Amino acid sequence: MPSLPQLTVAALAAASLVAGQTYTDCNPLNETCPSDTGLSSYSFFSDFTSGDSAFDRWNTTAGTVNSTSQGAAFIINEQGDAPTIQTDFYFFFGYVEVKMKTATGTGIISSIVFESDDLDEIDWEGIGTYNYEIETNYFGKDNTTLYNRATYPNVTTPSDTFHTYAVNWTSSAIEWFIDGVSVRTLYYEDALDGKNFPQTPMNLRIGIWAGGDSSNGEGTIEWAGGETDYSDAPFTMYVESVKIINYNPADTYTYGDKTGDYTSIKLANTTSGSSSSSSSSSSTGTGTAGGSTSAVGQSTTTTTPTPGTTPTPSNSTTSVSTSSASSSGTSTFTAAAAGMAELGMSPVVVLLSAALMLFV
Ligand SMILES: *[C@@H]1O[C@H](CO)[C@@H](O)[C@H](O)[C@H]1NC(C)=O
Ligand SMILES: *[C@@H]1O[C@H](CO)[C@@H](O)[C@H](O)[C@H]1NC(C)=O
Ligand SMILES: *[C@@H]1O[C@H](CO)[C@@H](O)[C@H](O)[C@H]1NC(C)=O
Ligand SMILES: *[C@@H]1O[C@H](CO)[C@@H](O)[C@H](O)[C@H]1NC(C)=O
Ligand SMILES: *[C@@H]1O[C@H](CO)[C@@H](O)[C@H](O)[C@H]1NC(C)=O
Ligand SMILES: *[C@@H]1O[C@H](CO)[C@@H](O)[C@H](O)[C@H]1NC(C)=O
Ligand SMILES: *[C@@H]1O[C@H](CO)[C@@H](O)[C@H](O)[C@H]1NC(C)=O
Ligand SMILES: *[C@@H]1O[C@H](CO)[C@@H](O)[C@H](O)[C@H]1NC(C)=O
Repeated sequence: MPSLPQLTVAALAAASLVAGQTYTDCNPLNETCPSDTGLSSYSFFSDFTSGDSAFDRWNTTAGTVNSTSQGAAFIINEQGDAPTIQTDFYFFFGYVEVKMKTATGTGIISSIVFESDDLDEIDWEGIGTYNYEIETNYFGKDNTTLYNRATYPNVTTPSDTFHTYAVNWTSSAIEWFIDGVSVRTLYYEDALDGKNFPQTPMNLRIGIWAGGDSSNGEGTIEWAGGETDYSDAPFTMYVESVKIINYNPADTYTYGDKTGDYTSIKLANTTSGSSSSSSSSSSTGTGTAGGSTSAVGQSTTTTTPTPGTTPTPSNSTTSVSTSSASSSGTSTFTAAAAGMAELGMSPVVVLLSAALMLFV
């Protein structure tokens, strides 16, 4: 992590806030929230070179993201641009692979974020200023009080070369891989005895934003490696494909209480025939994640999925919903939010404020 020692404490604080800067519509630790729509299949694959249909299970939450021959293109043309997509489903422990080429450009951040309703978070962030490393990070239950969670593994010219960034997320550990090589492992007990360990159903959010926007706080700009010069635009990040293996397929995930513990999450299949292989069970199946390595009871008749076996992804997005690429939601990654984070606002407030600034 060559850039790290040079950073001030303030910069590190800002960096963590930036990474933690995400929002939730309803926090199950404080409120009673609707169930999350789950991914009912074990595997999911999006080939973003294949055209618009690749976005079928993705919601565009800011800007526009198109399919190109290099994959989904996330482009910043001018100040305020921060195109972002997120899966329209949640998954509960799993293996996720994103083939990405980060954007080049001072202060430009290419982000892959797993985010849950109670703000557990797992991150990859490419800082365009540094074309030789990538950042890994995590947060548990929105706890942003400590600033030592990020690591910066080296990677060869991430802005010029596609690399596969993967995470194997289980109830006992989170392991980050670059091109199949492990670069970090976080064990459950090492994250404040599990309290800071990401362990609730996540959706996947992918986007680009300008950490180096001049309106951002000093610490954020320092973390991003300097001020963004928009005359260098466009800044483009490409995501060729995304693979998700869901260790606990289900139609819905529901928080059973306000602990945010993975053992409290209830899994259910509410519809029959939600996938081609589900002919046998038309009744509602429910289950709760147990304490095994990767978690989980799938149903009352518990067949635990083997997390290690990575089946060949089916080359098609499981189509159920049609995505409306409306930008109705709030933006997850915004320069404005980065600035406000330094004023000490909570990430949720920051995001809501940022959304207002962007869309008003
Ligand atoms: C829950 O609400 C309290 C009071 O509004 C707030 O201080 C706290 O940060 C909230 N916790 C979460 C996890 O949202
Ligand atoms: C995406 O494609 C649409 C339709 O072809 C086009 O109007 C739009 O300008 C494109 N957006 C970007 C950012 O390339
Ligand atoms: C995706 O968009 C649909 C339609 O706007 C919405 O109902 C759903 O809640 C969104 N899902 C996520 C995970 O953002
Ligand atoms: C947040 O994390 C810090 C450091 O890991 C820990 O000291 C603190 O108790 C945690 N706060 C909560 C509310 O869990
Ligand atoms: C990472 O890359 C930097 C810049 O090339 C180099 O100085 C550093 O030694 C590398 N670190 C490791 C662990 O390879
Ligand atoms: C729901 O159905 C899927 C597909 O048939 C199956 O793999 C999964 O185990 C079921 N989940 C539960 C909680 O019953
Ligand atoms: C994920 O972790 C589980 C539990 O340690 C392990 O069994 C499995 O092989 C891992 N899968 C991958 C793809 O690394
Ligand atoms: C997916 O299918 C399309 C169309 O058949 C093909 O062009 C593409 O190479 C396939 N992608 C993968 C990763 O198999």
